[in-house]
Amino acid sequence: MKHVLIIGISGAIGRAMADHIGVRHPDCLIVGASRQKPDDYPDHWQHQRFDLEDEASLEKLAKSLNAEFDLIFVATGFLHNNTIKPEKSLRDLSFDHMQHVFALNVIGPSLCIKHLSPLMNTSTKSVFALLSARVGSISDNRLGGWYSYRASKAALNMMIKSAAIEINRRFKSKIIAGLHPGTVDSDLSKPFQGGVPQGQLFTAQHSAKNLLNVIENLASDQSGKCFDWQGKEIVP
Ligand SMILES: NC(=O)c1ccc[n+]([C@@H]2O[C@H](COP(=O)([O-])OP(=O)(O)OC[C@H]3O[C@@H](n4cnc5c(N)ncnc54)[C@H](OP(=O)(O)O)[C@@H]3O)[C@@H](O)[C@H]2O)c1
Repeated sequence: MKHVLIIGISGAIGRAMADHIGVRHPDCLIVGASRQKPDDYPDHWQHQRFDLEDEASLEKLAKSLNAEFDLIFVATGFLHNNTIKPEKSLRDLSFDHMQHVFALNVIGPSLCIKHLSPLMNTSTKSVFALLSARVGSISDNRLGGWYSYRASKAALNMMIKSAAIEINRRFKSKIIAGLHPGTVDSDLSKPFQGGVPQGQLFTAQHSAKNLLNVIENLASDQSGKCFDWQGKEIVP
């Protein structure tokens, strides 16, 4: 791995992935992108700003990069903030809530594929991985609730599938995949960690190590699918 782009490097899993790649592939050029440059950002990594809700910033980001990336890792995502909480009931659905969740979990990552997949290395295997979630599996949905988040991840998985079909017509060595990181200790999961069985709440570092193993083992015929941190396919 020589060139890696991490979209959402300010997030727990995005940062842990960059740290882990830096250890496993010390000569790798790491470019991170986020809305703000984190205070503890290493000097030897490049940084670019972008906002998922601003397509022009993604276009600008793509134009500013001239490397051929072996891995593009989209680690952004949204579940809750001070005013938006995952819906427990149909009564909780609201236009603004749904629009916000879909903007950040579906539209932004899809536009990342649009603008950044042309920067993937074509001479050897390259991977475009996006963090999805197991709750985006329709057949695995036994509990209901979390309407917008679940639906946004299911829609993201469909975007990944369609993008893979289109991109793989021309480039067989480009792999587009969704990844479920497990339940990871981060700002995103913080309010919902209470019910997580003991031993099943991962550190971001542990998750990143597992996800990098999955990424490095992905084969061309797995493009368009979604995998968990163990490399097991998540049924749609
Ligand atoms: N943690 C879990 O248990 C878990 C489980 C399953 C799936 N996932 C998925 O994994 C991904 C990462 O989660 P995480 O736990 O690492 O969360 P996190 O620490 O909260 O990171 C979220 C990232 O998304 C970025 N982001 C949010 N809005 C953005 C915007 N408008 N423009 C650009 N970036 C934006 C954040 O940037 P700022 O710093 O600028 O806000 C941050 O880098 C998400 O897609 C999540 O759904 C997580």
